[in-house]
Amino acid sequence: MKLAGSSHSVCLIIGDPVAHSLSPRMHNAGYRALDINFFMGAARIPADGLSEAIAGVKALGIRGLACTMPHKVAICPLLDDLDPVAETIGAVNTVVQEDGRLRGFNTDWIGILRPLESLVSLRGTKVAILGAGGAALAAIYACVSAGAVVSIFNRTLAKAAGTANRFGTELLPLSESSDLSPYRVIINTTSVGMSPQENLSPLTKQQVCPHHIVFETIYHPRETKLLQLASSCGATTLRGLDMFIEQGAAQFELHTGLRAPREAMRNEIYPPLVT
Ligand code: ATR
Repeated sequence: MKLAGSSHSVCLIIGDPVAHSLSPRMHNAGYRALDINFFMGAARIPADGLSEAIAGVKALGIRGLACTMPHKVAICPLLDDLDPVAETIGAVNTVVQEDGRLRGFNTDWIGILRPLESLVSLRGTKVAILGAGGAALAAIYACVSAGAVVSIFNRTLAKAAGTANRFGTELLPLSESSDLSPYRVIINTTSVGMSPQENLSPLTKQQVCPHHIVFETIYHPRETKLLQLASSCGATTLRGLDMFIEQGAAQFELHTGLRAPREAMRNEIYPPLVT
């Protein structure tokens, strides 16, 4: 919300750790492109400091939050309102303050949906989701709500049973022998590929086919072992940064009420990638 003569609207990303986050750069590039009086900073908030931080957000009139690990679930009961989609997913990555009330949203699912739908129509499409932790929930919601036929593959079936039941999806063990050839889309939401597992892939070469669209949700490192392996098998790939940009664009729109300048936001974080 720009507005001539208005004071700055301040947004924050909160998380722990948060220093590595690309969100301030991406959002600030978007604000510059639209020439609006917004600024995003980063605040490291440990898990046990969250409720104090939320009180501070209110006291200071912070316009919006981007919310990352470990707060996405814990923040829900601290807010005044939850958007119904955030409630269904059970996690919040975006908060907007309006008239002193904090409302929580989830845009992570949009970060999954938009890049996928630029490649394939999800209705009736078979999607394999690897993992069933926090990062899986937005991916499952995105695919189920778009009419995909979703199977969750998890290492520990017992840990995934509640999520599979809640979304009405099939649940299968994640192992080297899992046959993924019937699927069109594979989404990795496990932490395999992220430090300290950056030298591992959740799949072997034998499990990836050229007809697969392999969507990696990890964006640090930018080129995970899974992405390398999928490219070498001739599969189509989507990167964690593709998700990051789209969840951030939707977040920008909630914070500012303006259409996000996607190109400016993408250009801010993609150039170092493709060197
Ligand atoms: P997040 O909330 O970020 O998704 P998480 O809740 O710890 O993180 O979930 C991590 C996911 O990665 C889980 O699905 C986990 O499988 P388990 O439920 O069996 O623990 C999965 N995961 C982590 N390391 C794994 C590994 N080495 N092999 C297979 N799956 C792994």
